Amino acid sequence: MCGIIGYVGNKSAVQILLDGLIRLEYRGYDSAGIATLADSQFHVLRRVGRVESLINAAGEADMAGHVGIGHTRWATHGVVSEKNAHPHQSFHGLFSITHNGVVENYESIKEFLLARGFTFESETDSEILANLIEYHFNKETDSENRFLKSVQKALFHVRGTYGLAILCRDCADEMVVARKSSPLLIGVGEGEMFVASDVSAIARYTHDIVYLNDGEIARLTPADFSITTLRNESVDVVKCELDWQIEDADRSGYEHYMLKEIFEQPRALENAMRGRFSDDLSTARFGGLRMTIRELRQVDRILFCACGTAWIACLVAEYLIEKYARIPVEVEYASEFRYKNSPLDKNTLVFVISQSGETLDTMAALQEAKRKGFRTLAITNVVGSTIARESDGGIYQHSGPEIGVASTKAFTAQICVAAMLALYLGRIRDMSFEEGVLFVQALHDLPNVVERVLAQKDSIEKIAEKYAHHNDMLFLGRQEMFPIALEGALKLKEISYMHSEGYPAAEMKHGPIALVSEKCPCFFLAPQRSILQKNIANIQEVRSRRAKVIAVATVGSELGEKFVDDLIPIPEVHPALQPIVATIPVQLFAYYVAKFRGCDIDKPRNLAKSVTVE
Ligand code: F6R
Repeated sequence: MCGIIGYVGNKSAVQILLDGLIRLEYRGYDSAGIATLADSQFHVLRRVGRVESLINAAGEADMAGHVGIGHTRWATHGVVSEKNAHPHQSFHGLFSITHNGVVENYESIKEFLLARGFTFESETDSEILANLIEYHFNKETDSENRFLKSVQKALFHVRGTYGLAILCRDCADEMVVARKSSPLLIGVGEGEMFVASDVSAIARYTHDIVYLNDGEIARLTPADFSITTLRNESVDVVKCELDWQIEDADRSGYEHYMLKEIFEQPRALENAMRGRFSDDLSTARFGGLRMTIRELRQVDRILFCACGTAWIACLVAEYLIEKYARIPVEVEYASEFRYKNSPLDKNTLVFVISQSGETLDTMAALQEAKRKGFRTLAITNVVGSTIARESDGGIYQHSGPEIGVASTKAFTAQICVAAMLALYLGRIRDMSFEEGVLFVQALHDLPNVVERVLAQKDSIEKIAEKYAHHNDMLFLGRQEMFPIALEGALKLKEISYMHSEGYPAAEMKHGPIALVSEKCPCFFLAPQRSILQKNIANIQEVRSRRAKVIAVATVGSELGEKFVDDLIPIPEVHPALQPIVATIPVQLFAYYVAKFRGCDIDKPRNLAKSVTVE
């Protein structure tokens, strides 16, 4: 949610920090700040609002220093204000810190510190940490490791989550960073070191990355870094090579990241499939499942857990795996599963889906399933992310960086992976060779089909213009189009702030139909031929209540213009892939409605890209 960037090296820190914050802004954006250290003095600058206001202020400020930390905030404790923005300084000005996460026992720590003469400037839980570290620093006797040791000791008393980057006024050219349930990584340069909560912040400077694990703490100097645990135990350092270029994270001439990412979908789908078909082209294969075919055949049930759009991808996976692999599937919100203590069958396989690989509730659901002895697999986009590392195995989506807060290309890639999984599990059970070959062929053609739907962007824009003034909208679909109805409603509400709901089309009669009127248009996802008449009947029901109807239907289907006000035709594809193809129109529709309503599409209000609090 919040973003962290830090630098120790021989260059001026301020530009590197600001550049990093711009790249992190999509994670959270209600305030931002930087602190540099020069001549045993902190230079601190904080601003409410976007990073741009910080950049403007930095132009006039004196921000010398080759060491610095920066932060973008998404408020949890304390209102959005300059005082509550990070970095926070300790009471006597010895420490400057940026913190992602939540200190759950901050009130008792605050009382402890107040009783010892510390005072506080902000309402945040993070400022407590700066003071607690200062308290331990003043008592520390190990003069050589005083900074590191005082952070270690302070963190022993902290309950909650943190990604931390800390500077000490008395320790020039040094930074201490630590992590617990909040992502943090070190970028290794030549004569310089970086720290960030998200690799996009430092990708332009180095591709040598070390991901910190929970409970680890690191000391960074321009020349070196060392990692230990909070108990000072040594840690094996694993370096990774970043597999994408900084250009992948630029807007490349598109007005918004969201639009760029919608248009990247053909390539993202190709990447999700690359190298993943059997030589006889009748099934999929995955390198990272770490399960034998024998073990996979013993799976009696699959449980999928995720949040938000990734949870919707799980619902599509449920339809596909049940239909093609004949394995019963359940889907749970990760936030519900983690506290629910659901009884699970012993041969249950637990899958989590997460674009970022850092969503806290999804991570907690994964840990809960592991704790109970279940095999856990993950579908993630971010290589080296916490979820990718903590699961027993998994499948990378390879969608490239997704910067727009509203998930688009990651969603369709997740469904693509789920379809391939359904194919793979089906083929080791009772799907025929012929069915498998047709499935693979359809997957192969999918990027082209998606390209053809994207080519309808202008007509979808015109439709969006007609409906952009409405306050409510229903998205309706049956079977595997029900999740796409949910996704259409979610995309629309999150970026355009138009109230919208997704429902199974027939379920509409059991309540939501009360909303239907000329003021509440209905968006039908109805490409399936087998249930076309059922969808047409539902369309008639809402039209007879004067609702305008937009429909996504297969080219040449009976569902033509006589039944609807606005038709978005999509090509005929293998039924397993219809959810992907039908997603494109709802993404474009939401995008253009938001644009006509003048919304800040890449940074919708109150949202953050990666939700690392409960
Ligand atoms: C909506 C959206 C969110 C995410 C959710 C999970 O467009 O992007 O609902 O899908 O926060 O995020 P990940 O997939 O990173 O776990």
